[in-house]
Amino acid sequence: MRVIHSVRNLHSWRNKKELLEGTIGFVPTMGALHDGHLSLMQRARKHCRTVVVSVFVNPLQFGETEDLGRYPRSFHADRRLCREAGVDLLFAPPPEEFYPENFQTTVRVNSLTQRWEGEARPTHFQGVTTVVTKLFCLVRPHRAYFGQKDYQQCLVVNQLIHDLNLDMRMIRCPTVRESDGLAVSSRNQYLSAHQRVQAGLLSKALRQGRDAIRTGIRNVRTIQARMEKILGNNSDVHMEYLAICDSKNLEPLTQLRGTVVILGAVRLGTIRLIDNLLVRCP
Ligand code: PAF
Repeated sequence: MRVIHSVRNLHSWRNKKELLEGTIGFVPTMGALHDGHLSLMQRARKHCRTVVVSVFVNPLQFGETEDLGRYPRSFHADRRLCREAGVDLLFAPPPEEFYPENFQTTVRVNSLTQRWEGEARPTHFQGVTTVVTKLFCLVRPHRAYFGQKDYQQCLVVNQLIHDLNLDMRMIRCPTVRESDGLAVSSRNQYLSAHQRVQAGLLSKALRQGRDAIRTGIRNVRTIQARMEKILGNNSDVHMEYLAICDSKNLEPLTQLRGTVVILGAVRLGTIRLIDNLLVRCP
């Protein structure tokens, strides 16, 4: 596996003749790699001739009061995991290489970024779309692999690919979960033992909503009340939102039909967790 830290070396790697043929699969990450990332790499490995992973903790997608400084960093373990997963190239630029002094360009997707995570974290998606666009321009992948856990991010990146006519596809991959249903995430490391037990309630609430829909309940308020009851019983888990939305534009629904997405975000102390479930209305 080759490791590249500079943009210049990445350009010369990408311009190699042998890359003219065969699919390039790309897994962008912020490191602290876990089973969720591993599943993306394995999927890319299965379907692409060349697999590229980036590890870059992107300062632009953290708000001023967020956890950029303490975001987990584990480059040596990440490199080992990539090697074991059969990754061909690991791109890990230092921040000053990626955003040189006087960097002033941003990429913004409009309406899809307004609600939910966009409301809770007003500068977040602009940071994501800027870094992802830069990474796509550098790696020029045919396929990019993203986890469904960040459902809104998946829609936003898909919109960006469409709007900028990028010649590539985003592949949305299933959320990897712990045995109690908690979605695997780098931020789970912050949870204390007590919080870790409470954290499972978010996926439990989402499953409750899914089961209600599957048994034929169509009243959104009734479903919402059932989900909220699960979180409401616990004073350590603060609900930010639980919403049943159109799976394409994330508008909240009053009538359920087709495929809907149940989105949820909770806070345990200072730790925010998000999750979602796609549900097909029978
Ligand atoms: O999902 C993430 O880890 C990040 O938002 C991404 C896509 C790597 C951009 O920094």
